[in-house]
Amino acid sequence: MNREYLDSIGKAAVYLKSKGIDKPTVGLILGSGLGELADEAANQIAIPYEEIPGFPVSTVEGHAGQLVYGELGGKMVLAMQGRFHFYEGYSLQAVTFPVRVMKALGVETLVVTNAAGGVNISFNPGDLMIITDHINFTGANPLIGKNESTLGPRFTDMTAAYDNEYQKLIKECAKESDLAIKEGVYFGLTGPTYETPAEIQMIRTLGGDAVGMSTVPEVIVANHAGLRVAGISCITNYAAGMQSNLDHAEVVEVTTRVKESFKSLVKDFVSKV
Ligand code: 6GU
Repeated sequence: MNREYLDSIGKAAVYLKSKGIDKPTVGLILGSGLGELADEAANQIAIPYEEIPGFPVSTVEGHAGQLVYGELGGKMVLAMQGRFHFYEGYSLQAVTFPVRVMKALGVETLVVTNAAGGVNISFNPGDLMIITDHINFTGANPLIGKNESTLGPRFTDMTAAYDNEYQKLIKECAKESDLAIKEGVYFGLTGPTYETPAEIQMIRTLGGDAVGMSTVPEVIVANHAGLRVAGISCITNYAAGMQSNLDHAEVVEVTTRVKESFKSLVKDFVSKV
């Protein structure tokens, strides 16, 4: 981590404060098809990523993504509508930059969400899964390089990467709204290919319940920064070998179907955190 990177975190934070983003306590990273939750934030301020100094510029077709600040469930939240993926060609430092900026702005709790493939045979498309842990199978780590001790320790403890109390709290929220919820291990790969059937068999053998191409870098950096993390996956499809074919349209269709319960669950959690 170099001086320039550190400076850019500070500059982005100063810029966002100047725009009125002064007291966020909860950060939200909204995955594929789940970005609508940010629209529910009251008195919101939305800032496109390309306006924020130091932010990577998204390559995703159509819109680039934005930060949305506002009140949700009685808390001031800062939400990412759209995230940066390693498979898009961004460095892991770029992918995790927004988490650093959230921390600099005062965020203490990070809620990470994603669309993921179901590997556990008891999971079905449309299920929501509390992430209890992850397996970093990306072959990379955003903390590789000189450690910046003002940001966190050289060797980050990952024993409770996904906060245990938060997991319980999500379960309580789900129960109160009669929402069935799964829990399991998120298996993180780089993508952009989906897995082969043999890879899915391997992932199952290794203890993965859901598989995806995001989240792991952000959660590593959040733990380095001392943030408490809650994670929720939306299971959008059966992984390879469990169904005939995989396509992105199906992922979008399923997130559309479950987003109402997803939104109310996360809002509920935020109000109680
Ligand atoms: Cl099956 N695999 C990966 N890597 N990401 C996904 C997925 C599968 N389904 C949704 N996202």
